[in-house]
Amino acid sequence: MLALLFLWGAVVMLCCSCCFFLRRRRRPNEPPIENGILPYLGCALQFGANPFQFLRAREKKYGPIFTCRLAGKYVHFLTDSFSYHAVMQHGRHLDWKKFHFATSAKAFGHGSIDPSDGNTTENMQQTFTRTLQGNALTYLSEAMMENLHYVMVKSREAKVSSNDWVTDKLYEFCCRVMFESGFLTLFGTEFNSNYGKILSSIQENQRASILHALENFKAFDQIFPALVAGLPIHLFKSAHSAREKLAETLLHENLKKRENISELISLRMFLNDTLSTFNDKEKAKTHLAVLWASQANTIPATFWTLFHLLRNPKALEAATEEVKRILQDVSGNIGSSGNPIHLNRKQLDDMPVLDSIIKEAIRLSSASMTVRVAKEDFTLQLGSSSYNIRKDDVVALYPQLLHFDPEIYSDPMTFKYDRYLNENGEEKTVFYRNGRRLKYYYMPFGTGLAKCPGRLFAVHEIKQFLTLLLSYFEVELTNSNVTCPSLDQSRAGLGILQPTSDIDFKYRFKVL
Ligand code: HEM
Repeated sequence: MLALLFLWGAVVMLCCSCCFFLRRRRRPNEPPIENGILPYLGCALQFGANPFQFLRAREKKYGPIFTCRLAGKYVHFLTDSFSYHAVMQHGRHLDWKKFHFATSAKAFGHGSIDPSDGNTTENMQQTFTRTLQGNALTYLSEAMMENLHYVMVKSREAKVSSNDWVTDKLYEFCCRVMFESGFLTLFGTEFNSNYGKILSSIQENQRASILHALENFKAFDQIFPALVAGLPIHLFKSAHSAREKLAETLLHENLKKRENISELISLRMFLNDTLSTFNDKEKAKTHLAVLWASQANTIPATFWTLFHLLRNPKALEAATEEVKRILQDVSGNIGSSGNPIHLNRKQLDDMPVLDSIIKEAIRLSSASMTVRVAKEDFTLQLGSSSYNIRKDDVVALYPQLLHFDPEIYSDPMTFKYDRYLNENGEEKTVFYRNGRRLKYYYMPFGTGLAKCPGRLFAVHEIKQFLTLLLSYFEVELTNSNVTCPSLDQSRAGLGILQPTSDIDFKYRFKVL
């Protein structure tokens, strides 16, 4: 027994001394460092529990730049919103791709998409910009509007009589509507199904298979943070099988059986086939990465927007007015499901109230993290101070700190629907901190070269969803005094946080 205790003591001593000697020592001109007490993990557990509180506390202790050891990496956090610009200016020392490529391969299971590794010569960033913005966005948004109309209005009409209230869960509702419509928009429809006609059994089957894909998507998405943290997917049996089934749906041989595929996916299929050495499953997994990027943030963003809208009568009134104003310009019998609402690009871009509501909902729920890796040792100049950064260290920004900063946004935890409107009712773009105008005040989509290429489409999608909902339905929360669900911190760093619980609501067709 004594021998066992002695052995145990020796192991603990060894671990402690390893930790001590493996700790990084701060060198001159480096930011203050916190190694954490756990070997390898460092501060990862404390950080993961609530990044916002963790960073705020460290900011108080160390100032606007400090280093934390997180899962074997040394991460330099910059907390002052005025220093974000400096990070962008040091772009030549910082790599944004390495981290993205490695994370994508880890989570989705495809081979490296870094052209320097030789599997593909596709410049994915170029593909995304070309197919999600400019003219391509016009087509994409038109397709989304048609699909949303089908999913929200047409397919429901057949089943719901106009006077009946339908009760549902708000998050679940947003999930089903956005996933089905977004899936059809990117990946098209099965051949021979015509959404303009009465819901046929083919359409019912197609819907069932998309909703089945949604269940797999949810199972996979749930463990996404663990995969990004580096845990192998084999530890999660059912999520692993869900990912593989999703990939199967997206095999080129299956996609070729679909029509009206978006330019984004058809171009990516072509480039996979011509520029890469990926096998069929890996090609499918690159499409899964796009499916995830297109849904994982949009779904919770739609939920938060609708939730805040329904809880705020003034916001609801202003949004309804704006939708009416925009629809006045739309010819035809508005509201009749036989004559679907069509919003052109100009109309979608001329909705400042909805823009402000969406931005405010996203401000309150976004927890993305901007991450760059140092390509070499360099000196980061922040105003009059300079800090030495070592090669392979990570430089990170956590914009929730600025989104919740009371010096920028008064009463930051309160939803104010007109926060992003100026006195003329137009988009407000001027924000200050301590009397200085801010360049960066809203960053849920990242910044610089890695900025989300789908951000314009995402906002269009949510506006279209709201326009249809407000035009065709009466919608109410079951309990108008319901408290706001808290944010699920397990996804912090990855984008828009989901609610920890769902909300009951009801809707019925308006009598038009
Ligand atoms: C509210 C919804 C959305 C949010 C908040 C969001 C946010 C983000 C963020 C934070 C990034 C990483 C940027 C960085 O690392 O600095 C990103 C990347 C990306 N997003 Fe979005 N996104 C949304 C919707 C969409 C949609 C609808 C699509 C496509 C249809 C999309 C496609 C992408 C792609 C392809 C990337 C990877 C870009 C690259 O690696 O070059 N996103 N998004």
